[in-house]
Amino acid sequence: RCHSRLKQLHGQQVTVHTPPNITGHWVSNSCEVRPGPEFLTRSYRFFPDGSFQALQFYYQDPDCSKPSYSLLIRGSVRPLRASWLVRGGTASEVHVSRVQLRCLQTACDPPDTPAPDRSMQELTLMRLELRAEELFLGDVHTEHAQPAGYQSPLRSAKAERCGVCRIVSSADLHHPPVLSARPERPVRLQGDWVSTRCEVRPGVLFLTRQLTFHEDSQTWTGQYEHFSDPVCRHPTFSISASGRYSRGAPSAAIGGAVQFTFTVTHMTVTPMDVATTSLLNVFRGRECGSEGSWQRGVPQDVTSTSGCAALGVRLPHTEYELFRAGQDPSGHSLLYNGQRPSDGSSPDRPERRPTSFQPPLIRCSRGGREREQPFRLSAGGGSNALHTLAAALVLLHTLPFWRKIL
Ligand SMILES: *[C@@H]1O[C@H](CO)[C@@H](O)[C@H](O)[C@H]1NC(C)=O
Repeated sequence: RCHSRLKQLHGQQVTVHTPPNITGHWVSNSCEVRPGPEFLTRSYRFFPDGSFQALQFYYQDPDCSKPSYSLLIRGSVRPLRASWLVRGGTASEVHVSRVQLRCLQTACDPPDTPAPDRSMQELTLMRLELRAEELFLGDVHTEHAQPAGYQSPLRSAKAERCGVCRIVSSADLHHPPVLSARPERPVRLQGDWVSTRCEVRPGVLFLTRQLTFHEDSQTWTGQYEHFSDPVCRHPTFSISASGRYSRGAPSAAIGGAVQFTFTVTHMTVTPMDVATTSLLNVFRGRECGSEGSWQRGVPQDVTSTSGCAALGVRLPHTEYELFRAGQDPSGHSLLYNGQRPSDGSSPDRPERRPTSFQPPLIRCSRGGREREQPFRLSAGGGSNALHTLAAALVLLHTLPFWRKIL
């Protein structure tokens, strides 16, 4: 089940319009979390003449049930060219003419988001996927960097079977959408989880992830398949990793989220195309596997060289994580782990723990011993399949290296 889900993601037919015609009304389909953390919903209207009216509603809580202030931002946006930073995206020029802030509680302490130069930086990168009418806008960082990835997509306000879209689309500056507080979902990592789409990471990386957690032994494995294109059709390399994890305290910043500590103790790298194979063979000495021996499609264990210096990965490696549980509209379990800093660094100290999330993984199997559950691996297939799977944490470390090449 996990395998077939993943296969579907690779090379999926996606209709993308470039330059995108974003005329219309686009809204959040859930309560969104930005680094900080900030909790918000968005309702953006784009007009045929290039002008826009963007409503952003900010909240005190991760359910978006307690509004704190709202912003109405007016301006214009013009698609310029294909993005150099993110293949498949469109770079746009944004002009903000007016920002109105409305305080919705007794005292407002908005961060610097309303600053005109920052409030709409997300529009400088966009991608419109017509399959599910989703508008991807640039991500928003704590470091105020240029978008190099996307936020969770906005949906068309006319989308069917989207209750949150309806609530958000009918709101205005003075009447914010109030979502209902959800019962807290316990964070259970046990089982197998896969990406729900071809994901993009800062630095021209596209990938799918599959993670497996064994709660009883507190071990994990992960498989990261990297691609050169935004629909994950042309593989470049894959990383498999495994290690241990331990559960920490509930997050004070985000209700319902839980802190974890992860270590990577084993890693395998497989170059999947000629270019990557040659690149790995350029590195000398005991930096990444055995020197000059890389072959396309042949995995190499890089544990003995303490990881892969060429990819910026040192073993054993520790990361301070944040996880949250969720549910998709069909009732499938979702798992969110922490967003990485856009500068390519890793959360290797507790104070650098993430405060927002990556796109969710969906549970494809409960794994292990929970046989009574509807999703499980067929007998025998499990442990081998899991062994070849690999890791999320590792990915960011590839950035400095790949940036240099690309
Ligand atoms: C964009 O789409 C809208 C309708 O959704 C249409 O009215 C408009 O003419 C389109 N603009 C261009 C440039 O195609």
